[in-house]
Amino acid sequence: MSATAQRRIDELRATIEHHDYRYHVLDDPEISDAEYDRLMIELRALEAQHPELVTPDSPTQRVGAAPLSSFAEVVHRVPMLSLENAFSEEEVRAFDRRVRERLDAAAGALDYAAEPKLDGLAISITYRDGRLVQAATRGDGTRGEDVTANIRAIRGTPLRLRGKPPPLLEVRGEVYMPLEGFARMNEAAVARGEKTFVNPRNAAAGAVRQLDPKISASRPLGIFLYGVGMTEGWTIPARHSELLAELRGFGLRTCPQAEVVQGIDGCLAYFARIGAARARLPYQIDGVVYKVDRRDWQEQLGFVSRAPRWALAHKFPADEAETTVAAVEFQVGRTGAVTPVARLEPVFVGGVTVSNATLHNIDEVQRKDVRVGDTVVIRRAGDVIPEVVRVVAGRRHAHAKPVELPAYCPVCGSPVVRLEGEAIARCTGGFRCRAQRREALKHYAARRALDIDGLGDAIVDQLVERDLVRSPADLYSLDAGTLADLERMGEKSAQNLVAAIAASRETTLPRLLFGLGIRDVGESTALALAQHFGDIDALMAADETQLQQVPDVGPVVAGHVARFFADPANRAVVAALRAHGVHWPPIAAPRAELAPLGGLTFVLTGKLAQLTREAATEALTALGAKVAGSVSKKTSYVVAGEEAGSKLDKARALGVPVIDEAELAAILESRRRPGS
Ligand code: IVH
Repeated sequence: MSATAQRRIDELRATIEHHDYRYHVLDDPEISDAEYDRLMIELRALEAQHPELVTPDSPTQRVGAAPLSSFAEVVHRVPMLSLENAFSEEEVRAFDRRVRERLDAAAGALDYAAEPKLDGLAISITYRDGRLVQAATRGDGTRGEDVTANIRAIRGTPLRLRGKPPPLLEVRGEVYMPLEGFARMNEAAVARGEKTFVNPRNAAAGAVRQLDPKISASRPLGIFLYGVGMTEGWTIPARHSELLAELRGFGLRTCPQAEVVQGIDGCLAYFARIGAARARLPYQIDGVVYKVDRRDWQEQLGFVSRAPRWALAHKFPADEAETTVAAVEFQVGRTGAVTPVARLEPVFVGGVTVSNATLHNIDEVQRKDVRVGDTVVIRRAGDVIPEVVRVVAGRRHAHAKPVELPAYCPVCGSPVVRLEGEAIARCTGGFRCRAQRREALKHYAARRALDIDGLGDAIVDQLVERDLVRSPADLYSLDAGTLADLERMGEKSAQNLVAAIAASRETTLPRLLFGLGIRDVGESTALALAQHFGDIDALMAADETQLQQVPDVGPVVAGHVARFFADPANRAVVAALRAHGVHWPPIAAPRAELAPLGGLTFVLTGKLAQLTREAATEALTALGAKVAGSVSKKTSYVVAGEEAGSKLDKARALGVPVIDEAELAAILESRRRPGS
């Protein structure tokens, strides 16, 4: 029995590792994500039946360790060095000259291994007999932190090496956050009203240095290896480029943009090529690295202090630049927040021309003492909104004008108020203010709200500018003829948009509540309100005390909700939406035709990475499933996220199928009602 299981488990692990290699190293998958998921599901199920056959290097065991209270120290037996930097062509040419002089044997053009300089954090990973046993940060180069559990969780890191790895192999490389994942994380943080990460490097460093591996595992991280540290029983290949090829053979990810180039001109041409491709790369880089390709020459060249003589980092110009502040204007956001924005003399920074930079809020303007006419330092990091770092002292003219918070909204003229203790000042115009209206409509149409496909920013701007839409309810009166008259709209897209608006009539109460854009009511609060009150009339009638009965709703949010529904303009919007046929099923009792998961009971345990628990509950209940708090024989599935604990053990004990978040997403996707 168990021997058959063992055979199948071995087979599945090898197959999964093979597909990991195809996907992460060769970037050439042979199977679909769904097929891959099926292999994982089968392996998980078998391991759940035979817990004694689970091994630490099974692909199911990437994440699982308990949170730490601190990181252990790791001593790097071969120190982790840094690189000498160059910013100009002259400096790069001087480097090449020095190298050739020292190697006097080699007069002609040298082969250099050229690689992007990844903007992440350096990491060392040790494999013993092909098994990942330790991973550490660089630290001060001699002592780093043991982050093994967090590095294991990075999907591109093999837990077992392929081929014939040596008894000891310590590889080194860079952990980074892909730009797409970085953007996704920041969007989610904004949606939850949390602080965003300044740049992908900080985000990656923060993720690797999480004491709880489950949190780390939920962050999108990538890894590229570019070197070796300690090794035993292995002849290191004669060239750096061959070393990279061997690492790839072991199943380790190396940077696909690495190349061998000839001589200094080859290096400079590579720098130009990568510089031009920079904006399209899926990860952030801050330059390129040149390494003498021949290892015997590397050894001959040796080191100066903490950096090798055989390598050089050629950095892109800094992402900071100086320019002058032409004006400071105030932008009005969805909830009326009035944000100062610096209008700048256009300046080229970080690969793009910047003419606006955020000043966050009026306190910040005063703290930095930014005045109109000042020379300021602008910073642009990755895809982040450019910001004013500081005023250049000593360059201020006598006529530089201090910035003041306007007393009236620059868009609608309503009074601007700033509540005691709040950094943010707000326009009190509500829907009467065009700026708030515009942002409110964008929010209403967003994917997590009413999900109106095709109602992009440019269209909303025109609808508001032309006064065609004053509240979300007006969207439902638009016809294809009117829409086709807008700029950047054809007949066909106008018809599609009318259809998308019509389809949004069928929604859910949590989506509607979220879409109304009540201050501080995010998705999870919207769900809690909907579940508590069941319908919108009861919610609209509730006073602040009643609102505070809702889980997670405190006095502040209760106040926002009560004030929102006390405003006759907002009540009119809700009534108009209903009059236009916007409707939602009652929360507690989903209708049968809307309940493809009817009869199934799910238990959620642990933290989910992509969905909040509330959003998962909403999605499941919207499809008719029941979501229960504890596991029993009647449970259909246990969804195990990070930190899954006793419920997971109980599920295993009772033989209840356990699925992870990706599998849950697949179920939700496949059962989703057409048009929703
Ligand atoms: S080689 C002895 N290659 O840059 C050579 N480093 O300033 C040591 N880095 O700590 C590093 N991309 O975090 C090398 N392709 C690359 C790199 C790279 C990024 C980082 C690494 C290192 C720092 C040195």
